[in-house]
Amino acid sequence: MSEPLILGIESSCDETGVGIVRGNQLLANEVASSVEEHVRFGGVVPEVASRAHLEAIVPTIERALKTADVDLGQLDAIAVTAGPGLMGALVVGIAAAKALALATGKPLYGVNHLAGHVAVDLLEHGPLPQPAVALLVSGGHTSLLRVDDVATKIIEIGATIDDAAGEAYDKVARLLGLSYPGGPVIDRIANGDGDPQAAGDPTAIRFPRGLTAQKDLVKHRFDFSFSGLKTAVARWVELRQRDGLDIPLADVAASFQEAVCDVLSAKAIDACQSLGAEDLLIGGGVAANGRLRVLLAERAEERGIRLRRPRPGLCTDNGAMIAVLGAQMVSRGLPPSALDFAADSTLPVSRPLV
Ligand code: KG4
Ligand code: ZN
Repeated sequence: MSEPLILGIESSCDETGVGIVRGNQLLANEVASSVEEHVRFGGVVPEVASRAHLEAIVPTIERALKTADVDLGQLDAIAVTAGPGLMGALVVGIAAAKALALATGKPLYGVNHLAGHVAVDLLEHGPLPQPAVALLVSGGHTSLLRVDDVATKIIEIGATIDDAAGEAYDKVARLLGLSYPGGPVIDRIANGDGDPQAAGDPTAIRFPRGLTAQKDLVKHRFDFSFSGLKTAVARWVELRQRDGLDIPLADVAASFQEAVCDVLSAKAIDACQSLGAEDLLIGGGVAANGRLRVLLAERAEERGIRLRRPRPGLCTDNGAMIAVLGAQMVSRGLPPSALDFAADSTLPVSRPLV
């Protein structure tokens, strides 16, 4: 068979994404985000997200088909995020995908959102050498993965024991009075918002690096912890305010960001070295972060590790990542999911396909 033509649907959080791929080639990637509707709440409101998915799903599918210049009848299969994510949000994408599969008679693959964040890199950088290490950093998850095969075998070797990296960005942004989602805002402010003179000093404040002390490395070598860092930032800001001093926003943002990126990159490189992996891949919303991308590139180069960074638009949630993962499954001849599969809000990364 030539490379499979797959339509992928993503609806696990606040982005309704529909992507179409042929094998590892991207044909369409349409995303409708409900982020604006969540801003005033300072985080994603599940019911609001579900309703937005309901409204966006059909037009987004139609737009993707049009962009790719593809008819439903030409598809080889449909893929959809089965989990993890918000239950009510997942259900919308799954219902749409099941309806499409039933109406067209095409096979349906219920796939793992986290594996999708890893697989999306294939669109830009081709097949992944094995074993590879993936640093998955999103709003809900932060983990280090050994990827033996993106469609069948992903092993979590470490994860956050409290907040995810994106969650830390979002919480710190909130306590600094910045808008949601906090990641892109802190990224921008730390950078001086395009003005190098206004950029923050990442060494201005030495915030703690979670789980990097010698005693922690014994049990938690590849694990992360960001809640102490968030508390340290809150405490620092409180003390300044108590003393009637201004908050140097750019310095706080840059120093916080440095603490996050320092730990993420140090542990990711350590994982590669310990597993003998020469390829390191990053994925998830925080992988769009400018400082993380630069710091990892520097450290990877020093150690002779090849770094694979999807472009920022493919790091945040989208449908193409689901489509390309579905294509990998079809190419390997894996059987489709049973049509009665349910959404699984806590689907582990070790199960790429339900
Ligand atoms: O992967 P994603 O789009 O959704 C989840 O699966 O969670 O990740 C969203 C997270 C949010 O916490 C957001 O603040 C963070 O990714 N994020 C960033 C950046 N862009 C998005 N964090 C740091 N720097 C960025 N440029
Ligand atoms: Zn995600």
